[in-house]
Amino acid sequence: MANRLAVGNWKMNTTLDEALSLVGGLASALKAAPVENVGVGVAPPFPFLEPVGRAIKESGAAIALVAQDCHAEPKGAFTSAVSVPMLASVGVTHVIVGHSERRKHFGDDDACVRAKLEAVLAAGLVPIVCVGETLEQRESGQAEAVVGGQVRAALEGVDLSTVVVAYEPVWAIGTGKTASPAEAGAMHTYLREQVLSEIAAGKPVPLVLYGGSVKPANIDSLAATPHIGGVLVGGASLEASSFAQIVQGCANNGSE
Ligand code: PGA
Repeated sequence: MANRLAVGNWKMNTTLDEALSLVGGLASALKAAPVENVGVGVAPPFPFLEPVGRAIKESGAAIALVAQDCHAEPKGAFTSAVSVPMLASVGVTHVIVGHSERRKHFGDDDACVRAKLEAVLAAGLVPIVCVGETLEQRESGQAEAVVGGQVRAALEGVDLSTVVVAYEPVWAIGTGKTASPAEAGAMHTYLREQVLSEIAAGKPVPLVLYGGSVKPANIDSLAATPHIGGVLVGGASLEASSFAQIVQGCANNGSE
């Protein structure tokens, strides 16, 4: 695994043509300016995983295929759901679980996130577990308790060697508001030095990505912040050139 990671979460955006042109643009940008210490991934909508994966292969670019979610069961009567073995069979290597939009709009609670995480690990894929507090929780001084609790619920007792965590304050997602490097850094330090190091029990502590309105304009200061091991990017990943600039920002400002 590269020692940093930048993942573009396309959410419910793009048609097939747009998805292919987006990944094509990104592949060209990465080939023109390769990065060594940053793993790059894209998370297209489910129907486009296979064609986007094929386009990546044909381009020769090093881009990981990431799924935005999964079901916890490997198969069965769960109309519309997509299982981890299905994702693995089309070349997916990483799966996002517990994104705040899943938690908010689809009722994914801590138990559901844990079950999905275990399904991802059981299939040998890398889970990217998202955690984050709402504005109300932050303003009432509960941010660490909430985020620490989400991390513990997802990861206590789990072998962390292939796990990635993403800290995404809910109030910063898609709002244009970004946690300041100091705010994000404080949470990343708390997670890595206290919560995750306790769970890791002497083994290596996972990367913690930052997510929430990451843009070319703020990547340098975020990426230079200790304990920020990369980024999970929504809106700004829908344009190849801006996501490529973010990847470069991660590569140029590595703090670990
Ligand atoms: P955003 O989304 O970059 O559009 O704020 C981040 C995310 O939800 O992962």
